Amino acid sequence: MNRRSLFASAPPDPFHAGAMRSHPSAAALLALVVASALHADPALDNVYARSSTSLNGKWHVIVDPYENGYYDYRHVPYDAAEKPTGGYFLDKQQKDKSELLEYNFDTSPTLTVPGDWNSQEAQLLYYEGTLWYRTRFDAKKSAPDSRLFVYFGAANYRADVYLNGKKLGTHIGGFTPFSYEITALAKETGNSLVVRVDNTRHADAVPTVNTDWWNYGGLTRDVLLVETPSTFISSHRLQLKKGTADRIEASVQLDGPQRQQAFRISIPELNVTSEGQTDANGVARFEFPVRGLALWSPENPKLYQVTFNTATDHMSDKIGFRTIETRGSEILLNGRPVFLRGISIHEENPFRGGRAYAPEDARQLLGWAKELGCNFARLAHYPHSEHMARVADEMGVLLWEEVPVYWTISWKNPDTLANARTQLTDLITRDRNRASVIVWSVANETPVSPERTAFLKTLVDTARAADATRLVSAAMEVHADPADANHKIVDDPFGEFTDLLSFNEYIGWYDGAPDKIGRVHWTIKYDKPVFISEFGADALQGWHADALTRFSEEYQADLYRKTIAMLEKIPQWRGTTPWILCDFRSPRRPLPHVQDGWNRKGLIGENGTKKMAFGVLQEFYQRKAAEAPKP
Ligand code: GCU
Repeated sequence: MNRRSLFASAPPDPFHAGAMRSHPSAAALLALVVASALHADPALDNVYARSSTSLNGKWHVIVDPYENGYYDYRHVPYDAAEKPTGGYFLDKQQKDKSELLEYNFDTSPTLTVPGDWNSQEAQLLYYEGTLWYRTRFDAKKSAPDSRLFVYFGAANYRADVYLNGKKLGTHIGGFTPFSYEITALAKETGNSLVVRVDNTRHADAVPTVNTDWWNYGGLTRDVLLVETPSTFISSHRLQLKKGTADRIEASVQLDGPQRQQAFRISIPELNVTSEGQTDANGVARFEFPVRGLALWSPENPKLYQVTFNTATDHMSDKIGFRTIETRGSEILLNGRPVFLRGISIHEENPFRGGRAYAPEDARQLLGWAKELGCNFARLAHYPHSEHMARVADEMGVLLWEEVPVYWTISWKNPDTLANARTQLTDLITRDRNRASVIVWSVANETPVSPERTAFLKTLVDTARAADATRLVSAAMEVHADPADANHKIVDDPFGEFTDLLSFNEYIGWYDGAPDKIGRVHWTIKYDKPVFISEFGADALQGWHADALTRFSEEYQADLYRKTIAMLEKIPQWRGTTPWILCDFRSPRRPLPHVQDGWNRKGLIGENGTKKMAFGVLQEFYQRKAAEAPKP
């Protein structure tokens, strides 16, 4: 079973094929995307709308730092053999007292799935390496010709997946979904699903070895057993046609023996139905007019129930419709200028600790953002769970989503580029029907070089090829004028290719003290919307002192006040996502009794308590919201 990653089959953007000809490299890109589309297992879009059985719960685990369950003593992978003789994926049980077997999942400890292993066991807090998971499940099908898949919301970082001792495949990338078809391999009862998860960091990986977040390992999101009809709707896409507010563009992809079928898409609330026929590849692309559409916005997050019907399959999804674009230095949401009142968020649940993964976690984090007065959030620095985007759709929070091309990536390594591209297309395919998502970000704080800019340009082309309806950007850096320390220059060559001119600035924290902020003046090379993707300062919640005392709440609050005043002087300033909503774990923050392994730039402490700066930003956002032009 040849499987790269779940959603690698993202069809290129059907609506803008013409536009592609302007980028010869884009055509090559398109060919690659199409090539990868043709041999992958079918996508499993909208998996939460399908009938599925949760495989979440307690899984037996084996911690395997020497990868003894994967390699023989000659360091040859057991699963490379036609008939493997060893390997924990065989999930063997001792048959008689004389049989030598040195592992046993049944008597091994358990960990909860979904969940990272680091926050579940104190001994595993710093563990990086291989850990084996095993669960057993029954798979009684509801129809003899239906199909079965195992779906993983994410596994950090590398996952080797086995069913009943057979290898299903290997997935690389810690934050995007993947699945395998198991129709032929599954038994009615007692299936053994074994996953080797390895979160070892590698220089050529994405992310690379150096990050400012905790390298949580494990099966960090839902695992589902999904049943589909023999021919099913494997992916769908519905959005307003670019530049219109009354025409919907759509595409559906069927997978299975009956690919050529009639289909019907309906939006009952709008009394709209569109019918058509899929082609020999099971694909249909079409558009249809719509009247009386309420456009989705943070003020009115209107979602419509949309149903998809074919003779063999039925599915529904909740979708909002809105337009997003830039014009000069303006960002236009539904045709009207918008200021993005945002906050950056890491995917951690401050109360439970560890990676967040559940709808409730998303409601907690986005609820705080709403309380701050936000209409926008930056999900840093990697794809967060699908629940986050669906909850943002419901709550009315616009989103910036990002792939972990972070700091010093191996720009010259073609595999690193292919890996980054796959993570990006997988993210876009997963969330392309989410109205809340308006920005695809392809990188964060990457050092300027021709190789780096070419690498990022390829990612921008990849994003535009997969979805030409959203903005593309990256968090860039500011350069100091060697002749004037108060003169900041934004001239990153990569800015030419992005829709937003986004950059991080830490004046008053990494660059001088807060009194410097008021003296700063800017040279901004591009006539584009300026977006400050990060600014901030560490503060230990509950530590109070004068505003010059680092790590005090007063220092952080003062920096926020001064930064907001400085940014308001930039005419093109169109939004920000200060760093960061909550304190988060980082192995780069050892300062005893202050950081203790936490980055303290949160506006909310690790115990959920708000700091003074929360109020400073909230006040500013209330003022901005009051100033915003009313619909
Ligand atoms: C960087 C980076 C963040 C990091 C932050 C900090 O800008 O993008 O990931 O956590 O600064 O230093 O706190």
